[in-house]
Amino acid sequence: MKKTIAVLGFGYMIILWSSCQNSEKKNADNMKAHAGISRVDWGKADGKTVHLYTLTNNNGAQVKISDYGGTITSWVFPDKKGNKSSIVLGFDSLSGYLAKPPYFGATVGRYGNRIANGKFKIGDQTYTLAINNGKNALHGGLKGFDKVVWDAAPIIDSVPSLTLNYLSKDGEEGYPGNLNVTVSFSLSNDNELTIEYNAITDKTTPINLTNHSYFNLTGDVNNTVLSQLLMIDADHYTPVDTTLIPTGEIKAVKGTPFDFTKSMSIGSRINEVVGGYDHNFVLNQKNHLQEPAVILYDTLSGRKLELFTMEPGVQFYTGNFLDGSIKNSQGIPIRQHTGMCLETQHFPDSPNEPSFPTTLLNPGDKYHTITKYKVTVQ
Ligand code: GLA
Repeated sequence: MKKTIAVLGFGYMIILWSSCQNSEKKNADNMKAHAGISRVDWGKADGKTVHLYTLTNNNGAQVKISDYGGTITSWVFPDKKGNKSSIVLGFDSLSGYLAKPPYFGATVGRYGNRIANGKFKIGDQTYTLAINNGKNALHGGLKGFDKVVWDAAPIIDSVPSLTLNYLSKDGEEGYPGNLNVTVSFSLSNDNELTIEYNAITDKTTPINLTNHSYFNLTGDVNNTVLSQLLMIDADHYTPVDTTLIPTGEIKAVKGTPFDFTKSMSIGSRINEVVGGYDHNFVLNQKNHLQEPAVILYDTLSGRKLELFTMEPGVQFYTGNFLDGSIKNSQGIPIRQHTGMCLETQHFPDSPNEPSFPTTLLNPGDKYHTITKYKVTVQ
């Protein structure tokens, strides 16, 4: 397949590419949507123009991604009756994101999740990070990767893709090393959204990149996610202290409200978990790029989400801190538990927990990880 980087010099909205023209099954495809990628100007941040890209596959599913924060702003997919709505929480305009919502759809880095007291050591050297969550550092600091404007390149290939690049400077938010990060999003015709993360550094640094989409498979922010059925292929999780820092223990889920090894409704035991779910699950060691690590199913809409990942963990967060104070673009308050996150990751506070899989990236090495989300309807 030829791969071309499209040059976008102008414009309100341009269809960059269409799979239908080259298709051998022209007649069948004519019935379908034209796959492609388009772009609109979306405002300004940091003195730069921000854009919103729309990836459309030939089944008409659409994912919108902004170069502000590498943010997935919507993912429109039909329910079992054919009604289309977005299965992730987000806003229609940039202003919603500039108001600093809690990481809606964002690319999170340099270190997703928490680092205790914002401190870690590499060799003899102690590094001090920006503190932004009680006494801890969370999700990359005061201005993490979710709040910067990335360089974007739409890719013309067999499926629509968007590649984002960001150079995080040595010392940014306290992290060592110039870190060059690339995140690529692609939407397949069988409704699989693949996110591929790559990075290189010139000094040893911790790195833990993730996406912070809040899913609500009902497609309606008036509904909570509590009746949805969840399976997580994890026999263990990492218990936390009152500031959500892991204690270091890897604990069995059996007999606890953290046991989602068999599909269970999210709400069935949430009251037994102080504050709601906001925990790292230790995925069982399998090839989770082939077999789903997580399956989420909504009986109401018939939508099913399968999550595939190379990461060893996933933070299952039930939108506990959402309290209705933020409204979506239709003016509807975003209440507690109306979205849930599945943040694929290395474990929180790994730089201070030698027994956890390492998050250190050394000069000359390549950080490479893939997470895929597949949506179907039954
Ligand atoms: C993550 C954290 C939560 C919370 C959200 C953002 O998921 O684990 O505790 O900080 O981000 O509100």
